[in-house]
Amino acid sequence: MARRIGWSATAGLAIGLLACGGPEQAAVADGTPTGIIVDSIAPIPDGPLGDAIRRGRAILLATKDSLPDHVGNDLRCTSCHLDEGRRRDAMPWTGVAARFPQYRSRSASVDRLEDRINNCFERSLAGTVVAWDDPAMRDMVAYMTHLSTGIRHGDSVPGQGLQKGSAVPGDSLRGASRYGAECARCHGANGEGTPGFPPLWGDRSYSIGAGMARLRTVAAFMKHNMPFDRPGTLTDQDAQDIATFLTTRPRPDFARKAEDWPNGDAPPDVAYPTRANPRTTP
Ligand code: HEC
Ligand code: HEC
Repeated sequence: MARRIGWSATAGLAIGLLACGGPEQAAVADGTPTGIIVDSIAPIPDGPLGDAIRRGRAILLATKDSLPDHVGNDLRCTSCHLDEGRRRDAMPWTGVAARFPQYRSRSASVDRLEDRINNCFERSLAGTVVAWDDPAMRDMVAYMTHLSTGIRHGDSVPGQGLQKGSAVPGDSLRGASRYGAECARCHGANGEGTPGFPPLWGDRSYSIGAGMARLRTVAAFMKHNMPFDRPGTLTDQDAQDIATFLTTRPRPDFARKAEDWPNGDAPPDVAYPTRANPRTTP
């Protein structure tokens, strides 16, 4: 997973966020077809803080090599948070330090950025949490905080999160066939991945408890970002059908999934029953 697609392109296009700029300036698209976010980075400073920011970025790009005990599959953080966490409509970390602490209905608690990072370790990387006092955690937070330079608490950044469509299931049979045509050349005929391209299902992919395991989330991610070399070319129906097919595929379990959304407000596309929503259907 050493492949770093998009790096040279983004590095060349990066322009600095004006110190006085608000979030609109921070996230104005740079006009490229892939919708890369303008780099909100004032250049990474020299000295110990800059070193921490660079180490944090390296961990997020080469997660398994950096933290082998915390990663349970073949993904890295930037398998989904594309372009080093700076691409709009791919859950960018631009501004993320200003979005936490935040109340989250999945945990029904006020979570800090470290909690959110650990959610993705446990669920998206099917791994284990990183201790808050681990220097690796500090460094990941340093990088994300650097990407949030100039963005105020409460601001929303264009392209943050994912604009999700409907949760209405598509046609999984048609989705399987569209998967073969649009995705298999990189992600493998059985979703197992190919060299340089991550798996989409099976033991080495994200867990059932990951955000990407939800129909609406994967459909929206795919619509904006996949196929990687031709983003934006799928129809809504294709995205819906392929997403439905993907939600029927096996993937690692997430042991505490029944505790999610303890107030009973699980969204309709959550693929498992919870204690508070026993009748949620896939
Ligand atoms: C399988 C895909 C996937 C992988 C791999 C992944 N994430 Fe995420 N991440 C998501 C999704 C989906 C969301 C939620 C987006 C939404 O619904 O707004 C998210 C959200 C986040 C957020 C909150 C973003 C915000 O704007 O509130 C952080 C921080 C984060 N992830 C960190 C990480 C870290 C650190 C790793 C590696 C340990 C990682 N992610 C790996 C899919 C992934
Ligand atoms: C040209 C190759 C290519 C094609 C075709 C392609 N992808 Fe991807 N996909 C990628 C790359 C590259 C990444 C990011 C990997 C990284 O940087 O680590 C990715 C990441 C993903 C991810 C998040 C990581 C994971 O493994 O879950 C999903 C989901 C995904 N692709 C779905 C799809 C779907 C669905 C299709 C078909 C509509 C598709 N892709 C077509 C190359 C491709």
